[in-house]
Amino acid sequence: MNYRHIYHAGNFADCMKHALLLALIKALKRKPAGFVVLDTHAGCGRYDLTSEEAEKTGEWRTGIGQLLNHPAAAPLADYLDAVRPNVQDRHRYPGSPAFARAELRPQDQLIACELHPEDVRPLRRLFHADPQAAVHHRDGYEALRALLPPKDLKRGLVLIDPPFEKPDDFARCADAIALIRTRFRAGIVAVWYPIKHRTPVRAFYTALQDAGIRDMLACEFLLRPPVDPSRLNGCGLLVVNAPFGFEDEARNILEALATGLRSPEAEDIQINIERLAEE
Ligand SMILES: C[S@@+](CC[C@H](N)C(=O)[O-])C[C@H]1O[C@@H](n2cnc3c(N)ncnc32)[C@H](O)[C@@H]1O
Repeated sequence: MNYRHIYHAGNFADCMKHALLLALIKALKRKPAGFVVLDTHAGCGRYDLTSEEAEKTGEWRTGIGQLLNHPAAAPLADYLDAVRPNVQDRHRYPGSPAFARAELRPQDQLIACELHPEDVRPLRRLFHADPQAAVHHRDGYEALRALLPPKDLKRGLVLIDPPFEKPDDFARCADAIALIRTRFRAGIVAVWYPIKHRTPVRAFYTALQDAGIRDMLACEFLLRPPVDPSRLNGCGLLVVNAPFGFEDEARNILEALATGLRSPEAEDIQINIERLAEE
């Protein structure tokens, strides 16, 4: 396991993923019944943007750093309100489990899985003695079999956010989605993926369509055309069973993000929102 998220925390891909994640969780909060957020690849939960690792790439500067330097467009308000005090006061960027935990009501729960021993330690510290958050040091894909369907709560969201350092991560995500659909049909599924080149992304979509997965929305954010496979040219969030109104909300969020993240190196950001399968 070589991947460490600290090098990438707060970059454009995190901004995209976390702004959409927050919109999905806020949608779950429209109903009073409790829900669970299962974060299969949780990371360490909070990232020090002044650390040597974060400074080495400086990726956060053209991501959250740039967004916070300009007046926020309305569709990004929830996301930036959640991030601002962490970044401006303490130079900490929250990871997905921290975003989720901050949204929970007393009747909701968070389950966070992380396999890297050095990342699970701070994650455990972050949620130490928290009755609403459980941290598991285990393989997030395997955890799906053990933890779904959720014991007490009938609604929720599964976030799958692997490092994509292995060639089979797209295939494992497709299998995971199929498994979640059989074990937790009411659940929303959100899978983050890199867009370096079109070919593996198309193959991923086709595999899901061939597997008969219904109600799929692909939200893509491209800094540049995905022609050089050695670069992270963009990223996507595939959402299965998206809440009512999410498609329009996602479009507004990504358009605002495209405006906020425009720069001389990213002049022509493209967004695509594509319904890959109807309900
Ligand atoms: C992209 S990072 C997660 C970032 C986090 N979801 C966020 O948005 O803040 C991927 C994480 O998955 C962890 N990881 C890698 N393989 C894993 C596996 N099989 N199960 C659980 N975690 C894994 C890595 O150590 C890394 O922390």
